[in-house]
Amino acid sequence: MSGRIPTLGGNYFVKGMRRDKPQSMSKSWKLIYQYTKGHRFLFFLSIFMIGVESLFTAMAPSYISDMTNIMTDGLYTGNIDLEAVSYLGLICLALYLCGTLAMFLRNYWMADISQYVARDMREAMDRKMDRLPMRFFDSCRKGDVMSRFTNDSDTVGFALNRSLSVFIHGVFLLIICTILMLLTDLVLAGVAIITATVGMLISLLVINRTQKYYREQQRNIGNMYGLVSELYTTHDVVLAYSATEINKKRFDDINESLRISGFRSEITMGLLPALMGCVGNLGYVAVCIVGSVMVINGDIRMGTVVAFILYVKMFMGPLDMISSSMGNIQAAGAGAERIDEFLKMEEMPADSNGKHHEPVEGRVEFRDVHFGYSEDSETIKGFSAKIEPGQKVAIVGATGAGKTTTVNLLMRFYDVWSGDILIDGKSIKDMSRESLRSMFCMVLQDTWLFEGTIRSNIAYCTDASEEEVMEACRQVGLDRFIESLPDGLDTVIATKNSLSEGQKQQICIARALVDKSPMLILDEATSNVDTRTETVIQNAIDSMMEGRTSFVIAHRLSTVRNADLILVMKDGSIVEKGTHDELLSRNGVYMDLYHSQFEMED
Ligand SMILES: Nc1ncnc2c1ncn2[C@@H]1O[C@H](COP(=O)(O)OP(=O)(O)OP(=O)(O)O)[C@@H](O)[C@H]1O
Ligand SMILES: [Mg+2]
Repeated sequence: MSGRIPTLGGNYFVKGMRRDKPQSMSKSWKLIYQYTKGHRFLFFLSIFMIGVESLFTAMAPSYISDMTNIMTDGLYTGNIDLEAVSYLGLICLALYLCGTLAMFLRNYWMADISQYVARDMREAMDRKMDRLPMRFFDSCRKGDVMSRFTNDSDTVGFALNRSLSVFIHGVFLLIICTILMLLTDLVLAGVAIITATVGMLISLLVINRTQKYYREQQRNIGNMYGLVSELYTTHDVVLAYSATEINKKRFDDINESLRISGFRSEITMGLLPALMGCVGNLGYVAVCIVGSVMVINGDIRMGTVVAFILYVKMFMGPLDMISSSMGNIQAAGAGAERIDEFLKMEEMPADSNGKHHEPVEGRVEFRDVHFGYSEDSETIKGFSAKIEPGQKVAIVGATGAGKTTTVNLLMRFYDVWSGDILIDGKSIKDMSRESLRSMFCMVLQDTWLFEGTIRSNIAYCTDASEEEVMEACRQVGLDRFIESLPDGLDTVIATKNSLSEGQKQQICIARALVDKSPMLILDEATSNVDTRTETVIQNAIDSMMEGRTSFVIAHRLSTVRNADLILVMKDGSIVEKGTHDELLSRNGVYMDLYHSQFEMED
């Protein structure tokens, strides 16, 4: 069975990603198969065990047939050969027991393999995250990515564990059963096969319909994940804008679609067992009638009819197994495709292995840098600047001028379109991103804290001692607050709302303070703290800047005035540069900014 698998809705893929290209079921399962690498021996042993189980289960009816014949013979002669019956009974028992053992083993191994496969898929996606360009995070829907990590990998694991075994078991049983029936009696085999074929056709029809509903269901699950994660992260905004009603409607719409698609797939899938049961019963009746006529005519014996009744049951079983496992196998194919799609997303250009030579002097040069977030609009238009080691550079400009973007380029969160950025004369393209980023400690415009203690947030990725962490807290004026907490530094920051914005900024600055990297970037680092705290922090920042090349983006004059070099940005390029006094005397853009923005503080 092959099918076009859905790509879940939304326009969250960045350019260059495949989303419309149809893929086949076999391709998706080939991908799943690739993930069984390392467990292939057990994988094939499990399939072998399914074969053993199927063979043993299918062989039992012929012994039951012999037992029946001995018993019916005994009815005529009045003497049932109990020894032969018990001998055959023991063989049957042994067959069923061995079949059960084989089933247990393949269940065990398959469960093991499937969990490894799901784990490896999640791991591959996690590794992929590190290689995705920042552009991806700008445009992807978080909920959709989450659903690939959890729902899709789970679906694959489940199908591999349960449905694949059931499917293969069904196919094996079907083949073995057909052979045994043909060997036993051609006419009765014909009757059983014709009824089964009718059953098969009906189930194919049902499966075809269900496939559509399954796609719909997967798409709706993705949408639901997306909406829930959006609503969760923007809960306060939703409340503030009284947007509860609108969001309720959005939620209800998706929820209702999910219900309908779920109901449709369940109901059509649920039809299958009923239909199969009905066809199976028809099969019994047909075999009984034709069989009785043949027994009366002396063509076959009673045991053969009994064996055929068992065969028909066994024959319908696999059809049912195949059709019911198909749904999960399809869902897993769709899941694997979504995972594959994620893994094939365009990556950042390969990283250079180059390292920066130690020690870092801190000479930074922007050489005619051009860059845009999308191909059709240029954000940075020919940015050039030379910064000497240890200089304190302030970047100022109106909102949207491109200040943060410049920093993003310096850190290689994005790559320049043309031009170059050099550190100590070496292009940042020739350094690994890791070694480049390790040269800077930074406080970003968006405060970033993770779930953990205040201590771990400050000492992030360093082996700072308790004293160093506490000293950093003192320098940013956070010591009193921390002392007032019952758990002090070990207080867990559980939610994004448990600290004020200013406190979050203080923690981020403290993090930069314990980080001993040779250069410094501060993007609106103190925009949320009050002026008194800012004065405290400013002292800490000043000492941190001592001898370090520093980039400071600030709207406040106090932070800018003492800079060695002020770069004034407008629409993505530098329109003026110089010291505070030089720029003021020039009577240009800085002068305007100074009057409009800084005057009030002065
Ligand atoms: N991730 C992004 N994707 C697309 N466009 C972006 C992205 N980030 C910024 N921009 C756009 O690039 C331009 C420059 O943004 P940037 O963040 O560099 O401004 P800024 O000077 O730092 O402003 P502010 O003072 O408000 O922080 C803006 O027009 C903005 O809309
Ligand atoms: Mg900014």
